Amino acid sequence: MNGEARRYIILFGAQGSGKGTQARLLQDHFGIPQVATGDLFRYNLKEETELGRLAKAYMERGELVPDEVTNAMVQDRLSRTDAQGGAILDGYPRNLNQARALDDMLAEWGARVTQAIYIEVSEAELLRRLTGRRVCRECQATYHVVFNPPREEGVCDRCGGPLYQRDDDKDEVAIRRRLEIYMQETLPVIEYYRRRGVLTTIDGEAPIDDVNRAIVAAIVDRQGP
Ligand code: AP5
Ligand code: MG
Ligand code: ZN
Repeated sequence: MNGEARRYIILFGAQGSGKGTQARLLQDHFGIPQVATGDLFRYNLKEETELGRLAKAYMERGELVPDEVTNAMVQDRLSRTDAQGGAILDGYPRNLNQARALDDMLAEWGARVTQAIYIEVSEAELLRRLTGRRVCRECQATYHVVFNPPREEGVCDRCGGPLYQRDDDKDEVAIRRRLEIYMQETLPVIEYYRRRGVLTTIDGEAPIDDVNRAIVAAIVDRQGP
């Protein structure tokens, strides 16, 4: 496939803005995989791999895992067969160093970031969402006890797996730390893509389906269906 036809879509937004929720929907819509660095780290943690052990302490504190580790993991994921048509990047890049690494990676494959979406949500709403979030242990689908409950309490609609609460969502200190780091490290990355003319800002406080429609429209508008 030539580089121009591939879609590399980046979702930006603070913790709890709905990146994971929207990435799932976009994955089904466009037929390219969600690549979520947080999910990949949590998977490695669960499987107790070396990568998981390395990432653990950073994640528990709400801090970023070192860039070399994260970049290598993403490069490996984007090289797999199911990602040859592109990917929906959720939680990556998170600082300018990662953004440059991604540009280099894609340039080597004759591709580039086709669209960056910034999902904007107020801090009060972010806290409400994070404290009520539940995640499927098997497929990582995301729910909310009030805003997006599963059909049966504690059970995933998609795969029947058990739902759990992420450790970093139980600890308000870690939540605030994540939001602080986000402001410092990730806002400059959003600016970087804005200057490049590929950024669209979406109101993330609307209902999930409305946010999804707005994102799909922005993507199709730029690159076609
Ligand atoms: P990561 O897993 O990426 O966590 P995060 O940044 O804290 O982002 P979240 O997953 O919390 O938010 P989200 O936007 O996906 O929200 P969601 O869709 O779930 O990262 C975890 C850790 O891994 C990091 O702290 C770091 O240590 C490490 N890491 C990850 N990437 C890294 C990188 N690139 N470099 C270095 N380290 C990295 O939605 C939240 C809730 O709201 C859900 O309950 C959902 O149901 C609900 N909701 C969603 N949309 C709506 C809506 N429109 N209305 C009402 N409710 C909604
Ligand atoms: Mg997420
Ligand atoms: Zn599931």
